[in-house]
Amino acid sequence: MTMTEHAAITFPDGFLWGAATAAYQIEGAAHDGGRGLSVWDTFSHTEGKVANRHTGDIACDHYHRVEQDVAMMAQLGLQSYRFSIAWSRVMPDGRGHVNAEGLAFYQRLVDLLLAHGITPCPTLFHWDLPQGLEEIGGFRNRDTVSWFGDYAALMVRELGDRVSMWSTFNEPWCYAYLGHAAGLHAPGLTDPRAAVTVAHHELLAHGLAVRAMRAERDGLQLGIVINPSNIRSEGAPAAPAAQIRLIDAIHNRWWFDGTLRGEYPADLLASYGALADAIQPGDMETIAQPLDWMGINYYFDILVRGVEAGEPTDRMGAYPTVAGVTEADERDEHTDMGWPITPEGFTELLLRLHDEYPNMPPIYITENGCAYDDPVVAGRCADPRRIEYLDLHLRALRDAMRRGVDVRGYYQWSLMDNFEWALGYDKRFGLVHVDFETLQRTPRDSALWYRDVITRNGLAAGSS
Ligand code: FCB
Repeated sequence: MTMTEHAAITFPDGFLWGAATAAYQIEGAAHDGGRGLSVWDTFSHTEGKVANRHTGDIACDHYHRVEQDVAMMAQLGLQSYRFSIAWSRVMPDGRGHVNAEGLAFYQRLVDLLLAHGITPCPTLFHWDLPQGLEEIGGFRNRDTVSWFGDYAALMVRELGDRVSMWSTFNEPWCYAYLGHAAGLHAPGLTDPRAAVTVAHHELLAHGLAVRAMRAERDGLQLGIVINPSNIRSEGAPAAPAAQIRLIDAIHNRWWFDGTLRGEYPADLLASYGALADAIQPGDMETIAQPLDWMGINYYFDILVRGVEAGEPTDRMGAYPTVAGVTEADERDEHTDMGWPITPEGFTELLLRLHDEYPNMPPIYITENGCAYDDPVVAGRCADPRRIEYLDLHLRALRDAMRRGVDVRGYYQWSLMDNFEWALGYDKRFGLVHVDFETLQRTPRDSALWYRDVITRNGLAAGSS
């Protein structure tokens, strides 16, 4: 193995350091405090959908341990905390009745954060759509767009005096396509037209919510969180360039062209044809509201190849109309998710976004991290691979910033181990280890390393 020497690097003054979580993944208390059910309750309680029959019923029990968890964030030196609000906790049916107890929980969370000097950064939708809305068509139903706007306005009325930085949606690609085309996430449909409709209605709901939130209050910092990736052909046979372009349009360009240019990629619209018939005149103007910031989640590059003679051509279930391509990753090293480690792709992706979208607002990296299951031994959890992954990605990020990309902050995913959606509790992303029997939290070595990164506002010199 060759050793690489790394110089010390410093981030600009005022760079914001945080960690992220999401409501269904950590809160638990699924039936407490007047919370309504969400599509993830239904999905996780459906046989065969989630590994090991895991559910978010208890999760990290953050709902009951919020005080302890915020104290832990403060001990780790976090400057900001990105969390999501469970729509069904504050509006149990997604519309109409407001649950005061649910609102009180988020009030308390925000007050605790502020008391510790930690900037709250809530996300309004991290995939847990109220089940009551799903029963009337979920985000396939255009009416859900305006109900989302009502919910967004409610949250600003309740928290806008103390919270200025908000995002509307987290990774809308995942909810639309993993949830409605591939069937791997809630609500578990395999209907391409539904997926494209949801992809459009999510952005429409985003635009409407931004308008509604600004109508409630001036001075908010509003954004959306997208999970772009480079699509790379590796291995043989090579993936056809036109198909790579199409995957890129579905995964990347739809979201940035929509929000920043007020149009969808023409090549994708041509390929979708009637699948995209939910788009109505005037929608694109609503979608393209000016944004104060853009959230980027980055984990890995998507590696594909062409199909071989005799192989099925329709392997990419999460990408309607794409054919003749399959996921193909022949690299040796992976995280526990089976994801390749591609920090160079992080730099490249940020430079590309910078070049292609001149009106890109300042970027925050809203998620980046890796799953490794290192055990706690005698009260300590050594996780050198996570430290290595984060170090490489922070260097790649700094490189992009040096080359002109305006990035204002970084949130590690995740503060603590949690319910990793269809993969359950075995995929551990936390800076903090959680024992899911006792719910005890143990900061890993990476948490202490990250605390030092924050204190130093950068990385020490080292070798790997
Ligand atoms: C992202 C999700 C987040 C978490 C990480 C690993 O796609 O936003 O909730 O599951 O992946």
